[in-house]
Amino acid sequence: MRTLIKNGTVVTATDQYAGDVLVEDEKIALIGTSLDIQADNVIDASGKYVLPGGIDVHTHLDMPFGGATSADDFETGTRAAAFGGTTSIVDFAIQYRGQTLHDAWEAWTKKADGKAVIDYGFHMIITELTDQVEGEMDALVRQGITSFKLFMAYPGVFMLDDASIFKALLRTGTNGGTICMHAENGGVIDVLVQRALAAGKRAPKYHALTRPARAEAEATHRAIALAEIADVPIYIVHLSAAEALEMVTEARDRGLPAFAETCPQYLFLSYDNYEEPDFGGSKYVMSPPLRDKAKQDQLWRGLAFNDLQAIATDHCPFCMKEKRLGQDDFSKIPNGAPGIETRMSLVYDGGVRTGRISLNRFVELTSTSPAKIFGLFPRKGTIAPGSDADIVVFDPNRTITLSAKTLHMNVDYNPYEGRQVTGATDTVLSRGRLVIENGTFVGRAGAGSFLKRATRS
Ligand code: URP
Ligand code: ZN
Ligand code: ZN
Repeated sequence: MRTLIKNGTVVTATDQYAGDVLVEDEKIALIGTSLDIQADNVIDASGKYVLPGGIDVHTHLDMPFGGATSADDFETGTRAAAFGGTTSIVDFAIQYRGQTLHDAWEAWTKKADGKAVIDYGFHMIITELTDQVEGEMDALVRQGITSFKLFMAYPGVFMLDDASIFKALLRTGTNGGTICMHAENGGVIDVLVQRALAAGKRAPKYHALTRPARAEAEATHRAIALAEIADVPIYIVHLSAAEALEMVTEARDRGLPAFAETCPQYLFLSYDNYEEPDFGGSKYVMSPPLRDKAKQDQLWRGLAFNDLQAIATDHCPFCMKEKRLGQDDFSKIPNGAPGIETRMSLVYDGGVRTGRISLNRFVELTSTSPAKIFGLFPRKGTIAPGSDADIVVFDPNRTITLSAKTLHMNVDYNPYEGRQVTGATDTVLSRGRLVIENGTFVGRAGAGSFLKRATRS
């Protein structure tokens, strides 16, 4: 099977040029100009960018959390991802207390197998680190689950103590895995939450007001310090606060291998959203919370100057019915929001078109750099002969209006409802197969494969 993508502008993390791309079966076979080659399918990309498929390394599909289950499963979630120009995800499997990592992996494999439309990998969330679990970390790394998420927040549910965190970090020093950290000081936050509730402060905005930026910065600093003592790299997930970014920047300036991602919601939404009437603020209840608008420029600078290396989504959607579990108590609102479909357009529109980041940096942040950090490069994350033919034909001039009614995520609201963005995904190939063709879904549930990821090099 041959597909020829003609007349487009190929963009990678480093290059931008007029070129035709020949795909043979699952791989990119050849890149050239005016390729005159017979193909089964010819895609005209005139006036469009030909990008490596987006890689979203932070999703929560079909995840039980806070008394509800995230609304997108692996079928609806990966379909929505594809609509938005994402061709690989790395989702978070959860080891619940008393469970082995292997059981958790099996449970998440059942959720994904036969459903995923695009390729998927897993990080493993560790909530209990026994000696046996430590040994299992090595086994998982050998099986291609090469990263582990630990929580410094959610005491009694996910939170690990510093000794366990330190042991897990040490283990990645020998097995080549990577620790991904949810960095918020859960103990401090818990006290603030209890005090707010006791004072009758129950509205959604108190979710943000009880999770101060300094609690994120403190945990970020502590996580990096523990990784420094263990002499291993660390990756901070969903960084939202400029104060936390300062900790990452300081560490990187000292030459430490500290990495961090942020998410579109922290770049485009802000604390003000929590003030929306009629329980509207609940749509934005996520952890860490949205921050002051005035601090967003610092995140953009971090992205431009490589103190932040990736933009992921933390896609964790709950419908309003589930959000209403916390109608009278903000601490019972399930944490999370949708975003898997809107990442590429939002970042292109708000990042590239405004001049905050270059087009190459856009590709790097949404595809190449996450592929490198999480052991997928050069199979994924670039357009080069031999790489998987995960390709997005992206129209930089098409304007779309973001709305729950027209987007494909399985959730009844959108945090960006009514926002117009310019830059949209037209056509998507996943390992050479058409998944989205001129905005229409032509893929198949179950076509996505498990990604066995490499260790750190
Ligand atoms: O609020 C969030 N972020 N929900 C998903 C779970 C997590 O901590 O990433
Ligand atoms: Zn988290
Ligand atoms: Zn998350």
